[in-house]
Amino acid sequence: MAKKSEEAHKGREQWKTRIGLVLAMAANAIGIGNFLRFPVQCASHGGGAFMIPYFIAFLLLGIPLMWVEWAIGRFGGRHGHGTTPGMFHYLWKHPLAKYLGAIGIFLPLGILIYYNYIVSWTLAYSVFSLTGKYFAVPNHAGMVDFLAAFQGKVANAYFGDYTTALIFLFITIALLTWVLSRGVVQGIEALATWGVPVTFIIGFLLIWRIATLGTPDPAFPERSVINGLGFMWNPNFKALADSKVWLAATGQIFFTLSVGFGCIQTYASYVKAKDDIVLSGLSTVATNEFSEVIIGGFIAIPVTVAFFGIMETQRIAESGAFDLGFCAMPLIFQRLPAGQIFGTLWFFLLFIAGLLSSIALAQPLMAFLQDELKVSRRNAALITGGLATFLAIPVVVFLKHGFLDEMDFWLGTFGVVGFSIIELILFVWIFGSEKAWKEILLGADIKIPRFFFFAIKYVTPAYLSLLLFFWFFQDGLKIMFMRGVASENFPYIWFARFLMTALFLVIIVLVRIAWQRHRRTAHHKVSS
Ligand code: PHE
Repeated sequence: MAKKSEEAHKGREQWKTRIGLVLAMAANAIGIGNFLRFPVQCASHGGGAFMIPYFIAFLLLGIPLMWVEWAIGRFGGRHGHGTTPGMFHYLWKHPLAKYLGAIGIFLPLGILIYYNYIVSWTLAYSVFSLTGKYFAVPNHAGMVDFLAAFQGKVANAYFGDYTTALIFLFITIALLTWVLSRGVVQGIEALATWGVPVTFIIGFLLIWRIATLGTPDPAFPERSVINGLGFMWNPNFKALADSKVWLAATGQIFFTLSVGFGCIQTYASYVKAKDDIVLSGLSTVATNEFSEVIIGGFIAIPVTVAFFGIMETQRIAESGAFDLGFCAMPLIFQRLPAGQIFGTLWFFLLFIAGLLSSIALAQPLMAFLQDELKVSRRNAALITGGLATFLAIPVVVFLKHGFLDEMDFWLGTFGVVGFSIIELILFVWIFGSEKAWKEILLGADIKIPRFFFFAIKYVTPAYLSLLLFFWFFQDGLKIMFMRGVASENFPYIWFARFLMTALFLVIIVLVRIAWQRHRRTAHHKVSS
């Protein structure tokens, strides 16, 4: 058996160093979610009110799921599989298992398509900051117009159409493809090793700039950095009765830790068979939280409160996912001393963090092509890059019709919670809770309190099921029946659904083909 596992390992890459592994995993988790999504979610759900369910979800869902996914991933890697079809196949000896695993390739690929587009905006805005392109835009409404024109939603004096956006998208995808083609060690690990420290350094520079800002407008003494921090950190227990706050906080934990996507499992499949995952997993979670709560939390909200006040900050956060980052922040950079430099840095920070997360979203498809279909790394990278380009086109062209939002709800919100429930059931209930626990503890460098055993077995699955249930009735039905959607957008929403379904079916077929081939090679081996 041991020999067979070793054999299965042959030809698969493994992380070179432990610090490299932790940084690669941290780079997977640290992304646009940390610096943009987190402040927006926090501010639009009552600031301090949001942080309580956030930490509860972190403890009861985030940490347990992280360990589960690392364990499933390392286990799969030992058997030569870097994606969930192969992993689930070993957890549950049932022909359906591999098709459930197909979700773990479908979700990250689907999300990559639009996530990467947002990453390319950050690159564009970094360049716009450097060249001062938005520095003459007069006010907030102007910034909204500027962004809308850049995205091709409207045409005005700033941009005629989405050509500029497409150029930045192609540059981003070219970089992504290049890193993927260099492989796990020389591509991902190498980039993460300098990328993560760079995001921290830039983050601290920005915090220093903001912390020394005080009260920018003496006419409004209540608009200060301190009040911004107070808004985030003074707990507000009243808002806890609102299920929306709980759903948002939990969704943020999933998104920021990259759990429920299939990406952690793939990265963990490159961990050596008996290497610790408990301490490494915890270190990456801690690194991500530091970058989210401390760095992410000290930039966008405090500075926006300092310039515009708490009420306006909340309004900006509520008016959409991108207003804070792409409209309010640029306006602030106009008024900040050396704002062009700080603007460039802020968007570059987002770009590095985002690109590293895009890579993590792309790696499951890479691993599937290499492990299961025996495609070379170079060709796998070209296929992945090509798909990311081709499938992004409707996202770019139909942005104003709600194409991106539709995909984000089903994949990034509903999909990840559903997939986490599936993997927990397979790992803890079908594979067996004691075996699962042993798998997590294998080679562990620290002890885990037994509490987490019960968490993984009962608390986390129950919490998730409840969540899915509430979500479905609160948002799911509304989105499913397109309530409140302008009727001219219906065809585009249907097209998004069609595209997602088609993508899923293609992956199912590929899994089927891969398994038929596996069976044939196994036959050959036995008969020869
Ligand atoms: N965690 C990333 C972020 O915070 C998003 C992501 C999810 C990346 C899943 C990879 C996989 O932006």
